[in-house]
Amino acid sequence: NSMLSWQRTAFHFQPEQNWMNDPNGPLYHMGWYHFFYQYNPQAAVWGNIVWGHAVSRDLIHWLHLPIALLPDHWYDINGVWTGSATVLPDGQIMMLYTGSTKESIQVQNLAYPANLSDPLLIDWVKFPGNPVLVPPPGIDFKDFRDPTTAWLTSEGKWRLAVGSKVNRTGISLLYETEDFQRFHLLDNLLCAVSDTGMWECVDFFPVSKTENYGLDTSANGPEVKHVMKTSLDDDRHDYYSLGTYDEKTGTWIPDDPKTDVGIGLRYDYGIFYASKSFYDHNKGRRVLWGWIGESDSEFADVQKGWASVQSIPRTILFDNKTGTNLLQWPVEEVESLRQESHVFNNLVVKAGSVLPLDVGIATQLDISAEFELDKEALEKATETNVEFSCQTSGGATKRGALGPFGLSILADESRSEHTPVYFYVAKDQNGSLKTFFCTDESRSSEASDVFKPIYGSAVPVLEDEKFTLRILVDHSVVESFAQGGRTCITSRVYPTKAIYGAARLFVFNNALDTNVTASITVWQMNPALIRPYRPGGDDS
Ligand code: FRU
Repeated sequence: NSMLSWQRTAFHFQPEQNWMNDPNGPLYHMGWYHFFYQYNPQAAVWGNIVWGHAVSRDLIHWLHLPIALLPDHWYDINGVWTGSATVLPDGQIMMLYTGSTKESIQVQNLAYPANLSDPLLIDWVKFPGNPVLVPPPGIDFKDFRDPTTAWLTSEGKWRLAVGSKVNRTGISLLYETEDFQRFHLLDNLLCAVSDTGMWECVDFFPVSKTENYGLDTSANGPEVKHVMKTSLDDDRHDYYSLGTYDEKTGTWIPDDPKTDVGIGLRYDYGIFYASKSFYDHNKGRRVLWGWIGESDSEFADVQKGWASVQSIPRTILFDNKTGTNLLQWPVEEVESLRQESHVFNNLVVKAGSVLPLDVGIATQLDISAEFELDKEALEKATETNVEFSCQTSGGATKRGALGPFGLSILADESRSEHTPVYFYVAKDQNGSLKTFFCTDESRSSEASDVFKPIYGSAVPVLEDEKFTLRILVDHSVVESFAQGGRTCITSRVYPTKAIYGAARLFVFNNALDTNVTASITVWQMNPALIRPYRPGGDDS
C-alpha cells in the first residue's frame, strides 16, 4: 500500500520493523552514541518487550545492533522495561532497568557491558544478584518503575529516583547506593504532586543558569537549577518544572509551586512521551530523546508493519532570557542532512492570503522562518482575545485581528489536506500581547481512522523579538519549535493526497487586520543512513 509506505520516515530513528516505545539508557562510549529502546521484536503492537540497540557517530546516522537485553530471567520474563545508564568516573557503565517478573511485579535490575573495550557494547551481562530493588512497603507492586541515571552526592554516594504513586499522588522515590547492588531508600521523596497518578520515566538533571552548555548529571551549586520531569501515565504527556535541589534533605523545590510538575509546562504540546535526557560529555551538552507514537489506528500499524519513531535528539538549555522555561533544539548534526536551500526574504503576506513556496516536493524538509506583524496595524488592533486556546478557538481558519499566521505543511495543491503550524497573537485591554503557538491537524488527512487534534500552548515572545519558527518535516512526522525552542509541538500526520510528489508548502496569514512580513529558508533533507547489522561487517 503506497499510502502506508509513504509514512515511513527518512531521517528519524526507527527500527526496521515492529513496535518501539521509550528511549532507554542513552550514553556515549568510545566515539559512539548508544541508543536503546523498548522494542517488540514480534509485532507492531506493544508486548514481548526487549531492549533494541543501535549506535551512531553523530546521533543521525545509525547502525542497528543485536537486541541488548532479552527477557530471560524470572525477574524480567514479562518484559525488559525502561531504564537508564550511569557512566562512572572510571568508565564503568551501570545500566539499571525495570523488570516485570514472572508474577508481573515491577523490580529494578542491574546490567553491564560484558566487554567495556568493545566500542559497540554488543554483549550485556545481568548481575547475578538481581533484582537489586523490589517495591518498598506501601508501594503497589505494579507502581514501581523506570530508574533514572544516578548522580553523585558530595559524600561520594550515588542517588537515583524511581517513579511511583500513592493513591492518586505521583511520587519519585529516592535511593542511595555505593555499588549499584545494594540500595538504601531515603526517608524523603524527591518530589510528590497530588492527583497526578502514576509517574513514569522520571528524569532529574541540572541546567546552568548562566552558561550555554549542558551539565553532567552530578553537577550542583548556586549557578545550577534542577529540572524535574515526569511522564504522566494518566494523560500520556511529559511535564517538567524548574527548581532547586537540596542535597541535604534530598528534596527538590519548584521555583513556582503553581507550575509544579504535572500541572506545569510540557516538553512538547503534541505527541512526545517517556522522554529521557543524557549528558553528552563528547560535546558538553545535554541531549533529550522522546518517543513519538502513532495517532492512526492499531489496525493501520499492523498493516504497515511498524509503529512509532524517536524524536530528533534535542539539546536542552535553561532559557536565561525568560527564566521560566527550557529551550529545546534539534541537535546541530541534523543540519548535515541539508541540501540546497530555498530562500524567501521579506515576503509580504497580506491579511487573509496564502502564498505557495516553491521548494519542490515537501516531504523531507528543514524549515526556518521568522515573521513580523505590521507595526501600525499592531498598534491599532483592539483585540482582547487573551482567553484564546489552540484547542478550543477554532483552529487555523478562525480569524482574529493578529493571527493566525504561519506555514501550511504537507499540503496538497488545493489545500484540501494540510497541517497549519502557526502563531496567534492576542492583545489585552492594556495593550500587552500574548502569543500562542499551535498545530491544527483537523484537515491533515482525509482518513477517518486518524486522531486529528489541534495542539498548542502559549509561547513567551520578548519585546524585541520576531516570531520565529523551526520545523522538521519527515513524511508522517512534523516537529515544530517556536522562539528557539521555548514551546515545541510534535505531530504525526497521515495525508492521503499530500503525499509523494503532491506534497507542497505554503505560507499563510489569516489575520483580519494586519499584514505579516515573512522570511523563510527551506532545505530539502537527505535521508539518514540507518543500516542493518552485519556481523563482521565494516562498522567504522
Ligand atoms: C512508558 C512505560 C514505562 C515502562 C515501559 C514499558 O511508556 O510504560 O513506564 O517501563 O513503558 O514498555
